[in-house]
Amino acid sequence: MACSENMFFLIGLFMSGVLACFGQRDLIASMPDRLDVLTGSCVQIPCSFDIPDKHKDTFNSAILLSGVWIKEFPYLDLPSSPILTVSGEVKEGTPVSLNCSAVAPCPEHPPELTWTLPTQFTTENQLQENPDQTKSVLSTVTFTPSYLHHEKNITCTAVYPVGTSNKRAEHNMTLNVSFSPKDTSASISPDDPVFVGSCVNLTCSSTANPPVTNFTWFKISEGKTTQVASGQSYTLNVTVGDGGLYYCQARNSHGCGMSNEVQLAIKGHEEPVNPKVFEIVGKTLGLIFLFSLIVFFAWRRRTSRLPSGFDMTDRSQGLVGMNSPVGTVCSNQATVGRGNQ
Ligand SMILES: *[C@@H]1O[C@H](CO)[C@@H](O)[C@H](O)[C@H]1NC(C)=O
Ligand SMILES: *[C@@H]1O[C@H](CO)[C@@H](O)[C@H](O)[C@H]1NC(C)=O
Ligand SMILES: *[C@@H]1O[C@H](CO)[C@@H](O)[C@H](O)[C@H]1NC(C)=O
Ligand SMILES: *[C@@H]1O[C@H](CO)[C@@H](O)[C@H](O)[C@H]1NC(C)=O
Ligand SMILES: *[C@@H]1O[C@H](CO)[C@@H](O)[C@H](O)[C@H]1NC(C)=O
Ligand SMILES: *[C@@H]1O[C@H](CO)[C@@H](O)[C@H](O)[C@H]1NC(C)=O
Repeated sequence: MACSENMFFLIGLFMSGVLACFGQRDLIASMPDRLDVLTGSCVQIPCSFDIPDKHKDTFNSAILLSGVWIKEFPYLDLPSSPILTVSGEVKEGTPVSLNCSAVAPCPEHPPELTWTLPTQFTTENQLQENPDQTKSVLSTVTFTPSYLHHEKNITCTAVYPVGTSNKRAEHNMTLNVSFSPKDTSASISPDDPVFVGSCVNLTCSSTANPPVTNFTWFKISEGKTTQVASGQSYTLNVTVGDGGLYYCQARNSHGCGMSNEVQLAIKGHEEPVNPKVFEIVGKTLGLIFLFSLIVFFAWRRRTSRLPSGFDMTDRSQGLVGMNSPVGTVCSNQATVGRGNQ
């Protein structure tokens, strides 16, 4: 009790250069009404106190006096922007965490941090003490970036409650998402059948971050895939053997992307539109022939009354199944389609 009697409070209000001071707990404190200060220099604020007459008798001068200085945060000013930090590379498909930190000069009324992201996210907020004992609010956001988020903005907004209104400060950041080649496409110019001896230009395009370092061209001919060139465009002086389907592969440090197939057709030496079509037709004709044979033999057996007719039919059906065009085409597609991966 005696201790608190000797406590006094100084409340300094620094508003537009006006500094005020007043006392409590039965002591009268006084300080200048106004101080003109220089930014970057220091300021000494004189303060004195007096004991009111009615307490002069009870005041115990043997007890140590203590005082508290309170300076109001200059909210007339704008709050400083929160600080956004990312650790390491932002990579497609890999969850990433970002920190946003905003000063909380008034820890009882800390700023509220909110995020704006181009995707779903989770956040975690906490009040932190800095090495200089000031406080900050730290918000950590976690999300999984995709290549669609590349060059999209992320915003962290700090809202400071000030009296009955709010002050806002925000930090914007443009995402740099690294990703493997996307939208890889091959084009051919001219895209009509050409004569042997004319020039044809094949061009590959793709988007990737970092950019594509290696374009590779492949040719599919007679069911076989061969690597024919590297470089974003491939120019040929057409020879008879150049007809076929072509596609490109784009590669960067994160992976690769494959293009559509384009056809190089030669005038006068028209390659089949798709060699597979002939294969299917051939297989189907073979199948019809085989089936006719079976029917023929079955008919002959029945007319010659052989007892083991069912056995023969069963075996023949097994043979038909093995040579069915469906099975053959599927395995061919698997080889032709992505034999290079
Ligand atoms: C975010 O802050 C936490 C706690 O201070 C720290 O451990 C983490 O490394 C920070 N992350 C980033 C991305 O700065
Ligand atoms: C993204 O942020 C930049 C500044 O960082 C700004 O100029 C641009 O307008 C913002 N874009 C969108 C879509 O908000
Ligand atoms: C293609 O090659 C042939 C034979 O080498 C040559 O005669 C012809 O001029 C070339 N065509 C073009 C367009 O370069
Ligand atoms: C092939 O096409 C690409 C893209 O259109 C172009 O940059 C290149 O010069 C062309 N090459 C030839 C030989 O025409
Ligand atoms: C974005 O990331 C890529 C790949 O990590 C890098 O090469 C590029 O310099 C970065 N761009 C910016 C503007 O930071
Ligand atoms: C590009 O990739 C192909 C196939 O992966 C490889 O053979 C070629 O050497 C590479 N070229 C460069 C310049 O890295």
